[in-house]
Amino acid sequence: MTKDKGKYYITTPIYYPSSNLHVGHTYCTVMADAMARFKRLSGYDVRFLTGVDEHGRKIQEIAEKEGMTPQAYVDRIVAGIKDLWATMEISFDDFIRTTEDRHKRRVQEIFKRIYDKGDIYKGDYEGWYCTPCESFWTDIQLKDGKCPDCGRPVEKASERAYFFRLSAYADRLLALFAETPGFLEPETRRNEMIGFIKQGLEDLCISRSSFNWGIPVPGDGEQVIYVWLDALANYVTALGYPEVDGRAGEADLYRQYWPADVHLVGKEIVRFHSIIWPAMLMSMGEPLPKKVLGHGWLLLDGGKMSKSKGNVVDPVRLIERYGVDALKYFLLREYTFGQDGLFTNEALLNRINADLANDLGNLLSRTVGMSGKFQSGKIGKPETGASGTAETPYAAGQGSDGGDPAAPDCPDADLKRLAVGTAAKVETFMDEFAFNHALEEIWTLIRRSNKYIDETAPWILAGEASGKARVNEILYNLAETLRIVSILIRPFMHGSSAEIRKQLGLRGGEAFWDDASVFGKEAGYVTEKGASLFPRLDIGEELDMLAKINPAGDAVPGAEAAPRAPSDSPETGLGRKPEIEYETFDKLDLRVGEVTDCVKHPNADALLIFRVKMGKETRQIVSGVAASWAPEDCVGRKVIVVANLKPRKLRGELSEGMLLFADNGDRYEFVTADAPDGEKVT
Ligand code: MSP
Repeated sequence: MTKDKGKYYITTPIYYPSSNLHVGHTYCTVMADAMARFKRLSGYDVRFLTGVDEHGRKIQEIAEKEGMTPQAYVDRIVAGIKDLWATMEISFDDFIRTTEDRHKRRVQEIFKRIYDKGDIYKGDYEGWYCTPCESFWTDIQLKDGKCPDCGRPVEKASERAYFFRLSAYADRLLALFAETPGFLEPETRRNEMIGFIKQGLEDLCISRSSFNWGIPVPGDGEQVIYVWLDALANYVTALGYPEVDGRAGEADLYRQYWPADVHLVGKEIVRFHSIIWPAMLMSMGEPLPKKVLGHGWLLLDGGKMSKSKGNVVDPVRLIERYGVDALKYFLLREYTFGQDGLFTNEALLNRINADLANDLGNLLSRTVGMSGKFQSGKIGKPETGASGTAETPYAAGQGSDGGDPAAPDCPDADLKRLAVGTAAKVETFMDEFAFNHALEEIWTLIRRSNKYIDETAPWILAGEASGKARVNEILYNLAETLRIVSILIRPFMHGSSAEIRKQLGLRGGEAFWDDASVFGKEAGYVTEKGASLFPRLDIGEELDMLAKINPAGDAVPGAEAAPRAPSDSPETGLGRKPEIEYETFDKLDLRVGEVTDCVKHPNADALLIFRVKMGKETRQIVSGVAASWAPEDCVGRKVIVVANLKPRKLRGELSEGMLLFADNGDRYEFVTADAPDGEKVT
């Protein structure tokens, strides 16, 4: 069972409720959720905080335009944000709103403490102000005369205001970066911040008098506290710090969880989290967060998704159509932490079809399907492996392979080795926030399992009286692997994990991370066929549909297009090729063949590898029909072979000929002949 590994406090930025969130915002929250779930599953006492940053001039202006009070406006948007997180099954422990009393009173107390420390003074401020970012900039900080964060125009502004002595913390901040290199990652961001501090840190203007939608400066009715000071404080106010209620145990959460283990933030707000926030904490005499992690942006058509530019992708539309797990998987698998990535509808659909429908969905439906067909749904734990060894639970790092010791490369041993070894690899990648690599490892196991089915071909053994025990063993190995997969994917795709466990008959009983490293744990399975996990999509149709409901995600010019059925010629209704002479046709050597074996290509999702018998000769032929056919359904079929096509390698596998198929644009059907294999087709 799992051990108590201590506490883990993870936060997302608190989002501006200026309008509904887009898929770019969900990216950060989905990562934080996956990490929180992973840590909980592996034995940590997790606290996961998210929330909304509701004050500031921008919100006040938008609300005024809508003819609403700022509070009524944010209440409406925040309700939508909470609904979104509920739909996306985001497992936060607390959701903080900066308009809540518990937050406002503590922010005022923080202001007082920093003031009492002598780090806040009143003065006149003149600078370049960027309204959307709520930031003042100096001349040298501007980029081409514009805001260095968002690139928008800035205006000269002057205010009587309070200042925070940020400049006094420059040396301590530089020491922090030098002594604790892990404090800010990725490294490029750290270097940027060091450069920024060395350029000269100016004191920070931390109050505003030109609008009033904010937390009043204590004892000064004219000023409200700068929205970033207000917002950054959320990471501690949500834990009950500083104590303002006089209630026993008010700051218990703070004592239990602070300092944060990680603040997950977008790259443009790294500066606030790695310079201003630590300086505030230094002034307050409180410990610093252990890590600030800056992630990249999801881009559209070369630019950042932006509510104000109007080019955003609505996550709700995608979830309605493809389910929450598909979107979460896509966001975590497609992008590399720390780097920007392009969002396209096409990339999303391809991931759903290739990884979720073909690999994971197929593995479950094949296993449960065969269990129903060959075992009436009951899989026993093999007493003695049909390959000759007793089955005992097999754990990562154990010497025995649990298969035939005389054949260490037998598929059973290979599958078990991979199955029990995957959790450790996933852990290593999760520690680096490399969600994409963690998922890649899990999918290596899923693909290996599908290959195991092709290699062991239970449908052939099931027809033989002597094959019964082996079929049971194969299905047990598959069910055990799927049980392990259900634990491994649990942090990323909770619903799919639960569905797999349901179809395997694993009712009740929690999943524990440690159980993902043990093979042979269950005494048996009573499987129950359920709905398809991820139905296969018609990419062409979906792209057309998404172009209407999610136009911002349409592929950018030059991006690789998904294969689509050729359009019909208007005259004939057929996509015709140019005429050829009879002699050209006569060069073809077409033969009847019989498929004796068929497996998935190990390196290409779209390809199948056929063994085709033509009289005395058997050839290997690779064909791109994996989307239409499961390998086991191809064996025994009569096919037509182009037998004199020059051999060539397809993704590393030799193809000695070609099979003919009818293509209706949606699926490939075998072209067949009721004739002995080897016979000529003329
Ligand atoms: N309210 C501040 C954060 C205060 S934290 C103490 C804020 N809010 S925001 O709504 O503008 O942005 C919140 C987060 O969403 C940021 O980390 C930002 O990087 C992230 N994203 C906004 N658009 C994004 C993409 N297109 N892609 C990835 N993340 C994006 O800043």
